[in-house]
Amino acid sequence: MKPYLHIVGARPQFVKAAVVLAAAADRPRHQLLHTGQHYDPGLSQVFFDELEMAPPDHSLDIGSGKHGAQTGAMLAAIEAVVERTRPAAMVVYGDTNSTLAGALAAAKLHVPVVHVEAGLRSFDRRMPEEINRVATDHVSDVLLCPTHRAVEQLASEGLAAGEGARRVLFTGDVMLDLARQVGRTVQTRTAVGRWLADPQGPPPAPLDALPADAARAGGFAVATLHRAANTDDPARLAGLLAALGDLPWPVLLPLHPRTRHAMARAGLKPTGRLCLAEPAGYLDFTALLHGCARVFTDSGGVQKEALFAGRPCVTMRDTTEWPETLAGGWNVLVGADPEALRAAARAAPEGPAPVDAFGDGDAGGAVARAVEALG
Ligand code: UD1
Ligand code: UDP
Repeated sequence: MKPYLHIVGARPQFVKAAVVLAAAADRPRHQLLHTGQHYDPGLSQVFFDELEMAPPDHSLDIGSGKHGAQTGAMLAAIEAVVERTRPAAMVVYGDTNSTLAGALAAAKLHVPVVHVEAGLRSFDRRMPEEINRVATDHVSDVLLCPTHRAVEQLASEGLAAGEGARRVLFTGDVMLDLARQVGRTVQTRTAVGRWLADPQGPPPAPLDALPADAARAGGFAVATLHRAANTDDPARLAGLLAALGDLPWPVLLPLHPRTRHAMARAGLKPTGRLCLAEPAGYLDFTALLHGCARVFTDSGGVQKEALFAGRPCVTMRDTTEWPETLAGGWNVLVGADPEALRAAARAAPEGPAPVDAFGDGDAGGAVARAVEALG
C-alpha cells in the first residue's frame, strides 16, 4: 500500500505531527520526513524523545539558509523522496519553509496535499510565514482548519465552494490535544514540574537561571522571542529585551538560537530581571507555562499554549493569525512598544480563557481520519 508522507522540519511541527501520528489507525503506513530545518538537539531530537516519536523514515539534513536556498534545497530533496515512495497523500503542518516545500513538491507531482492548520491569516505579508500559509493553502487539496474562523477565511478566498473548491474541514487544533494530555501530568512528569509543585531544594534547569525566590510558582514570567521581524532589527530587539528586563517579575527567556545569534551580532546582553536559558523541551516548557504568572511571546503556538495553561499572554507582534486568543484580553498585541508591553503586563483578563474556539481536544483523531480517508 502506498504510504502517507508527513513533512516536518521545525520545532512546532514535531509537536503537531506527534499528535496526529499517535492518533493514526494504520500507523505503519504513515511515514515521517524531517527536512532538517531545525537540527540542534534542543530544537529537534528532544521532541522525538519526549513525545515518544519513532525516528524519521526520511532525513534530508537541509539545515539553515536564506529563504530561497533553504526552500529550494528542500523542494528538490522532497521531490526525490516523493518520486521514490509514491505516497497516497502528503501531509504538511503549519507555515514554515518546510511546509511550503512539501506542499509544492507534492502538488507538482499530483500527490494530494493535506494542510494541517489551514486558513490562518495574519494579513501581514512581511511575515515569511504568511506567504507560506497562503501559498500552501492554495496548492492543497484537503484543508484542515483548527478554528471555524479559518474555515470562513478559506470560504472567503473561494476555496470552500464552487469551481476550484477543495475539501475544507474543521478539525480543531492538534496543539490543544497535546496541551491537555501533558497538562494533566505536568506536576509529575518532569523535574521542573515536580519542583514547581513542591519547591524543595535547589531548582532544576532552566529554573536555576532565575533568582531563587522567584523560581517558585507564580513568581516569574516566561518569554519566547524568535520572529524575524523582532530578531533581524537590532534596535527593535534591543528595545524588546530591555522592556522584558523591566517588568514586575523576573522573566525566564529560553532562547531560540536565531535570537542568540542576533544578540551576539548586535552585542546585546540581558539587562534588569531578564534571565536567559537554553531552549526547553516540550514537557519542561509546558511545566513552565503552568508555573508562571505571565507569558510574553512572539511565537504562533505559544500564544495558544499560554491560554491552554490558563496564563495571560502578551504578544510582541503587530498582528496575530490567532485572533481568537485576544478575547477577554487574554492575549494582547503590543508590537515592540515598551509602554504598551508594561501596560499589558499589568492588565487582568476578563472571563474564562478562550479555549473553546480550538475544538474539543480530539483534533489529532480528526486529522488522521481525514488523511486515511484518502485511500
Ligand atoms: C522557523 C520558521 C518559523 C517558526 C520557527 C519555529 C520559517 C520561515 N520560519 O523559524 O515560522 O516559527 O522556525 O521555531 O520557516 N538555527 C540554529 N539551530 C537550529 C536551527 C536554526 O542555530 O537547529 C539558527 C540558524 O542560525 C538559522 C536561524 O536559527 O539561520 C533561523 O532558523 P530557520 O529555521 O531559518 O528559522 P527560524 O527562525 O527557526
Ligand atoms: N517550545 C518548547 N521549548 C521552548 C519554546 C517553545 O518546547 O523553549 C514549544 C512550544 O511549547 C510550542 C512550540 O515549541 O509547542 C512552538 O514553537 P515556536 O514558538 O518555535 O514556533 P511557532 O509556533 O512560532 O511557529
